[in-house]
Order: sequence, then C-alpha cells, then structure tokens
Amino acid sequence: RPIAILISGRGSNMRALIDACAAPDFPARIALVLSNRPDAPGLEVARAAGLRAEAIDHRPFRGDRAAHEHAIDATLRAAGVELVCLAGYMRLLTPFLTGAWAGRMLNIHPSLLPAFPGLHTHERALQAGVKLHGCTVHLVTEIMDDGPILGQAAVPVHADDTPDRLAARVLEQEHRLYPAALRKVLTPDAVPQPDIGSLLFL
Ligand code: GRF
Repeated sequence: RPIAILISGRGSNMRALIDACAAPDFPARIALVLSNRPDAPGLEVARAAGLRAEAIDHRPFRGDRAAHEHAIDATLRAAGVELVCLAGYMRLLTPFLTGAWAGRMLNIHPSLLPAFPGLHTHERALQAGVKLHGCTVHLVTEIMDDGPILGQAAVPVHADDTPDRLAARVLEQEHRLYPAALRKVLTPDAVPQPDIGSLLFL
C-alpha cells in the first residue's frame, strides 16, 4: 500500500519506517516523503534511500495554513497515497487536512498519551516524577496529540535521567513502535510479530 511520510527534521522515525518497508513482507511502500522545511536533514536521508522526497515550504504561504495544507493534500493525492505517517512533522494541522485524511493519518508522539501532549515531553515527565514514560502512535484527529491510540511502548525513568538520556531511551522504542503500529493498521488480522518486546503494546 502506498504511504507518505511527513517530516520537519532529522527523520529518524522516517528512517525506521524506510527500513521496515524494505522487508518484502511489509504491507506498505513509501510513495513520497514531504517536509515543510526545505532544509530538513531527513529529506537527504530519504533521497539517499532512493525515495521521492520533496519540500512544500510553509513560509511562502505566509501563515495561510489552509493553503499550505491544500498543496500538501494535492501532492499526496496525485502520488496515489493511501495513508500518511507524521514523523516529527512540527506544524499544527487544521481540520481541513485532519478531516481529509481521517482514519488514514498516523502520528508518533514521545509520551504515553494522554500524559504530556505538546512539546518538551521528556522534561515534563522528569518534572512530574513519573516512573514510566514512553511513546504513542495514534490516529490523528483535529485535536493535537489526541485521537485513538494504536500502540504504545514504555520505558523506565531512571533516578539520574536527564531529558536527553530519557529522550534517547524513548526514541529507541519509537523506532520499534512505529513500524509495528503501521503494520497493524494495514493488516489488523495478522498474528502479532514474535519479536515485539513485553513493553510494547498494540
Ligand atoms: C520524535 O521524538 C517524535 O516522536 C516527535 O518528534 C521527534 C522526531 O524525531 N514527534 P525524528 O525526526 O523522527 O528523528
């Protein structure tokens, strides 16, 4: 099934999805990578992997989010995309794009939602003193970092954690969770993969 990945930055989750899609039995192929930032390092990573990767810069739209989203939507449709994965895409979406792709747009968020929606999740988790933290893949709705949860992976919080150390521990799980959650969405009746660890829940 043809999917698109939307990024804004380094694209490590995109990389994890690229690697997963390379497996012959994986039910998705990446038709397109889009970034709202022309300088996103992930674009080069995608091109190096032989993928079509383009920027649709939001700046020329001068704050007209709907017009920018219409350009994205038209590009996705022209490419025959059936499902969209947000992977570090840092623009808030309007009800236009979330509505157009309702049930067909996934996001990964670096916390165990509904805890810590929004930014700086690892700092906030440390401040809150939680002992368990992690990441969530969910369907995108018009409410930011909300929507039906497809899967979560949890990590312990250590007493001497810094936000960076905790972020790295979570990111490792993001890279396992996102491909697993995508596979589950595309093949809901499939038998769970045997290599899924005990702290990853789908
Ligand atoms: C990840 O932590 C993701 O959960 C969040 O933004 C970060 C993107 O990292 N939404 P990358 O670009 O995938 O490396």
